[in-house]
Amino acid sequence: MATMVSPSLLAADFLHLDAEVDMINRSEADWLHLDVMDGVFVPNISFGFPVLEAVAKKCKKPLDVHYMIVHPEQYIQQTAKLGAYMMNVHYEACTHLHRTIQEIHQAGMKAAVTLNPATPVCVLDDIICDVDMVLLMSVNPGFGGQSFIENTIKKVRQLRQLITERGSKALIEIDGGVQNETAPRLVEAGADVLVAGSYVFGSKNPEQVISALKEL
Ligand code: DX5
Ligand code: ZN
Repeated sequence: MATMVSPSLLAADFLHLDAEVDMINRSEADWLHLDVMDGVFVPNISFGFPVLEAVAKKCKKPLDVHYMIVHPEQYIQQTAKLGAYMMNVHYEACTHLHRTIQEIHQAGMKAAVTLNPATPVCVLDDIICDVDMVLLMSVNPGFGGQSFIENTIKKVRQLRQLITERGSKALIEIDGGVQNETAPRLVEAGADVLVAGSYVFGSKNPEQVISALKEL
């Protein structure tokens, strides 16, 4: 399977979202990654539903919505209404993760569970067959442009092994510090989907960067 790419809009030029989404539509990106932060679960605030709705109207790619918020289960219906493809919720934010995953599926979306850098892969033991994707954070969530946490490579290998052992169909997505040096190593370790914010939007030719990531 070719590597999938989900550029993170967090690093886009917010004064020119129209042009940025046009670029995504033209590009080979598989999905568009949307980072929602609440200033509680993470020490930063990004954007919410008014922005998500505007982007959803224009974006032709499936939306990969990453909630860095407390109580993400309260926003399942609103996210489904956007037409989102994937809803990512943090393991650390969900007391009743199994119920939340079920509710995301009932709302007609794919469900992903996200792990912070300090949360071990083994906590997924009893949920790995119920999720469509696991998102491993390779930086502490809250900010774009941070440097990659090297321990993530080991976690990707552990997660690939867990998925194989259990016969799970979950994809492995990585988020944070993905660039030309880390991306090939992540793919080699078993990653399926790469999120890239500053590496894509900070480049002179974002479409070319997306195509190059897909070739890995
Ligand atoms: C960080 C977000 C990421 C962020 C990645 O909390 O979840 O999606 O946009 O940014 P880069 O690719 O610049 O590390
Ligand atoms: Zn993200």
